[in-house]
Amino acid sequence: MDSNSFRPADRDQLAQQTRELTDRRAQLLAGSYRLFYREPVHLVRGQGQYLYDADGRQYLDLYNNVASLGHCHPAVVQAVTEQMQQLNTHTRYLHERILDYTDDLLSTFPAEKDWRAVYMCTGSEANDLALRVAQAHTSGEGVIATAEAYHGTSALTSAVSPALGSGQPIAPTVRLVPAPDTYRTGIADIGTWFANQVQSAIDDLRAHNVRLSALILDPLFSSDGVLPGTPGFLAPVVDVVRRNGGLIIADEVQPGFGRTGERFWGFARHGFVPDLVTLGKPMGNGMPVSGLVGQADVMASFSDRLPYFNTFGGNPVSMAAAQAVLDTIRADNLQEHSLHVGELTRQALRDVAARHEVLGDVRGVGLYTGVELIEDADGRVPDAGLALDVVENLRRQGVLTSTAGPDGNVLKLRPPLAFSSGNVDWLAGALDASVHEAVTNRRARAGS
Ligand SMILES: Cc1ncc(COP(=O)(O)O)c(C=O)c1O
Repeated sequence: MDSNSFRPADRDQLAQQTRELTDRRAQLLAGSYRLFYREPVHLVRGQGQYLYDADGRQYLDLYNNVASLGHCHPAVVQAVTEQMQQLNTHTRYLHERILDYTDDLLSTFPAEKDWRAVYMCTGSEANDLALRVAQAHTSGEGVIATAEAYHGTSALTSAVSPALGSGQPIAPTVRLVPAPDTYRTGIADIGTWFANQVQSAIDDLRAHNVRLSALILDPLFSSDGVLPGTPGFLAPVVDVVRRNGGLIIADEVQPGFGRTGERFWGFARHGFVPDLVTLGKPMGNGMPVSGLVGQADVMASFSDRLPYFNTFGGNPVSMAAAQAVLDTIRADNLQEHSLHVGELTRQALRDVAARHEVLGDVRGVGLYTGVELIEDADGRVPDAGLALDVVENLRRQGVLTSTAGPDGNVLKLRPPLAFSSGNVDWLAGALDASVHEAVTNRRARAGS
């Protein structure tokens, strides 16, 4: 998570205006904030898939599933403005917006189950409540997460978020399992392999007298390096967790709302029905809206005992934004768009990869793509340093992105859904030039 960060030691090399803003941040903001890039980017405007810096330079945004439809989408701006002019209050008064939205949202969930929803403002809060609900339902404390997972900022969620780095303690009731990475492990039946990892983790919890509560997973394994896998490969792990009395929490903060193109939800792509589903980032196109959707009996285990009130969660303005997002995804066929343009993107990037042996696997689904930077084609040895150089070079080519994965060597390409087939050439050309430059510079350094 810290890999593509500005280092204060590089301050003196910054242009004056960038240095002044960077210094102000250092004086005013807590040190835990991180800036992207060796030379931070100062953004002032966004439109669709484009961002503009203070000098008017246009960038192609390949790293934003928060502005999921596109930056400053007019439907969301209008919905929020109109509702803000009328009323914004909390969920202790009756209001239609939250009900109409929930009706609509739940129509995207598997019809064979009875679902209940609750709203908050961040993915962290959604996951935090999901973990509490799972604990209440199972009377267990044990949680299993993947080795480079990220699920949030609260005490509970950061304790299942190894992506925060070695400074983040993982709770003694948590077990981490390696993510299902076919490329690096070379294992063909990755579903069975993954289920076996989870079974071992459950056995270990049991050996320590910890009862299983839940497996929490991002069905795209995005911070684990973007590992969508073949649809359905998670079936064996779902069986293992259920046989051992645990719940499945699908963290849809990354794959949700049509991004994978194949299905509206990441879990649906794998053909299983989770007990709890957490929603965040893309839900409000930039408005802080998140949610937890759970099977009614599971939710009742918590709500029969405890109230939940989130001051801003589910307010009419947030619900208006969320409704505009759902409406626009449908009206503009953005799920199909994601499927189609995602395929075009990976075809183009595979053509680029064929020209550079340091580019390994190009994988993904819909508008979510991971590209491996490796030392050479045979070894598949991750090359995080090269990945960072490529990220910096891409920025100079006007393309903003970053890295993911346990080795920090996977480019994570996740544009707003406004990203179009007309943008693919820009991205592919920029990647080609950026890799070429990174490799050439490295050779020059090695030779000098
Ligand atoms: C998979 C996943 N879950 C949860 C979160 C936390 O969401 P938030 O930053 O809105 O609290 C994130 C944020 O990056 C995420 O990627």
